[in-house]
Amino acid sequence: TAELNTLATGLGWKYFGSATDNPELTDAAYVAILSDNKMFGQITPGNSMKWDATEPERGTFTFAGGDAIASLAEGNGQLLRGHNCVWYNQLPSWVSSGGFDAATLTSIIQTHCSTVVGHYKGKIYSWDVVNEPFNDDGTWRTDVFYNTLNTAYVGIALNAARSADPAAKVYINEYNIEYAGAKQTSMLNLVKSLKAAGTPLDGIGLQCHFIVGEVPTGLQASLEAFTALGVEVALTEVDIRMTLPSTPALLAQQQKDYQSVVAACKAVSGCVGVTIWDYTDKYSWVPSTFPGQGAACPWDQNLVKKPAYDGIVAAL
Ligand code: XIL
Repeated sequence: TAELNTLATGLGWKYFGSATDNPELTDAAYVAILSDNKMFGQITPGNSMKWDATEPERGTFTFAGGDAIASLAEGNGQLLRGHNCVWYNQLPSWVSSGGFDAATLTSIIQTHCSTVVGHYKGKIYSWDVVNEPFNDDGTWRTDVFYNTLNTAYVGIALNAARSADPAAKVYINEYNIEYAGAKQTSMLNLVKSLKAAGTPLDGIGLQCHFIVGEVPTGLQASLEAFTALGVEVALTEVDIRMTLPSTPALLAQQQKDYQSVVAACKAVSGCVGVTIWDYTDKYSWVPSTFPGQGAACPWDQNLVKKPAYDGIVAAL
């Protein structure tokens, strides 16, 4: 059978992609699979374009890590998603500790977004300009950005990114908006208000960090709720974790779960692509973040395809 990106682009998607990270690029067997653009037509840097990596001190920009991922994508003929400009996490303390007045923080956000997005101008399909603005109960995260600028920081960042690379699609990326509820409602309302204000916004990224057996049944309806507002959507960080050890039954359920996630994107015309949050369990972020859980990716620790892979193929 054909590989994932070949199947996905055959459906009219822009890509089927994977996250990656700089330390993994010394693993030749890993890079060989990642670099096959029939398998993956898009990559996302897992860490190296974040604020702590790109502007660790005010006005000091470091692009070595991000550049390595960007040249890999370019050499492989793959699209690149930029991740991310403004996020409460992996934010250097010179920003998070605050103490800035509104005008100063506005300028800090503008400088950061325009410098980073401008550095990669012409190389990016879409930028996660704002990441994870909401708490799970739908209230705004009270981070330095919200505490200083209220909701205006979102438009400040989106406008700066748009100006720095007009060809890159500008996204807001979030988790736990994949099913109906307070957090999804807050994001839908944010999209409406940004659109009404004429603020640039092209897409919403739904991260899709799921648990085996618990993929939200409303995923397709959720995607449709966003596209109905005039934005595209993408599944940006898909993985489906389980409590370890993995068993044949869990792997079989995971196969169904991957199939239903990919099928939801296929069913929605404004869903442009699916990115898995690294393709192999060898480099998944899950075990270190969710103790006792793992095996969340479609390839195992030995870079061998799992039943989940066949689930993806079945959906495409
Ligand atoms: C994760 C990376 O994969 C890890 O390597 C890092 O230690 C923490 O961040 N949501 C996001 C991603 O938007 O940036 C996160 O990536 C996973 C959750």
